[in-house]
Amino acid sequence: MTQELEVARKAAQFGAETIRSFQKNRSELGIHNKGYRDLVTDADVATQKVIVSVIKEAFPEDGILAEEANEEIQFTDGRWWIIDPIDGTTNFAHDFPIYCVSIGFWEGGEARAGVVLEVNRDEEFIALKGEGAYCNGERIRVSERSDLSECIIAAGMPYHTFDEEESYLKLFRTLLHSCLAIRRPGTGAYDLCSVAAGRFDGFYEYGLQAWDVGAAALIVQEAGGIVTNWFGKDNWLFDNRMIAGNPSIHLKLLDLIEKHVPEEVRSGKLKATKGFA
Ligand code: IPD
Ligand code: CA
Ligand code: CA
Repeated sequence: MTQELEVARKAAQFGAETIRSFQKNRSELGIHNKGYRDLVTDADVATQKVIVSVIKEAFPEDGILAEEANEEIQFTDGRWWIIDPIDGTTNFAHDFPIYCVSIGFWEGGEARAGVVLEVNRDEEFIALKGEGAYCNGERIRVSERSDLSECIIAAGMPYHTFDEEESYLKLFRTLLHSCLAIRRPGTGAYDLCSVAAGRFDGFYEYGLQAWDVGAAALIVQEAGGIVTNWFGKDNWLFDNRMIAGNPSIHLKLLDLIEKHVPEEVRSGKLKATKGFA
């Protein structure tokens, strides 16, 4: 698996370089709407191309699930690379400096290796299944805080779809009163890595896509954290709803979400298919 991790790291470095080259010509950056409040820039497309070519050169037979590919994919138990060329596209488009390249390697339906590279701080988060998580070569672990009043929680905020606005706001209000602080950096992958590094204590969001979490969730797990969907289950990759945290805060978030989400969400009738940004 080390070989896959090294290829992912190389692809992420090349990807980050590509993003930086677009930063230099920001005035010429093409920014387009690919959906309602859903941006894509020329840099997303170019960066994905570079990442995919590095991976394809090393593993030509492997499957690729990448955000800007615009194709229907049948994800299987085989070998897959899950790629978000820029997680935090809206940040990037507005020159708000938190965005990252995210590359996860999956096999047998499990995350095996993950790299998240934040472009501006040049922070490289990596994990190999069973071998721990690292940031710039240093071992990282989730926090040990268990009292919400001492915790920073990262929360995704809706702006594509508002079907769950009421329950979302109730949950948000409860957390606002219970936590030390709530943060919304605008990149799910970096939120998760911040949980892994013990900077944030927990994270929750709905409307996530596989490429937002396909690398970073493993980094949380390998740092000793827990990752589930909103109902405590492991099928979070395509579920769109995620809770992550240190073991104690994960449990507390799970309990609060259970109390706030309406029946149609719990029964799976209301599916959060569209992402937030
Ligand atoms: C988005 C970011 C954001 C999250 C959205 C994602 P993008 O990804 O991860 O934090 O709230 O759900 O879609 O569009 O910047 O790649
Ligand atoms: Ca993303
Ligand atoms: Ca993206």
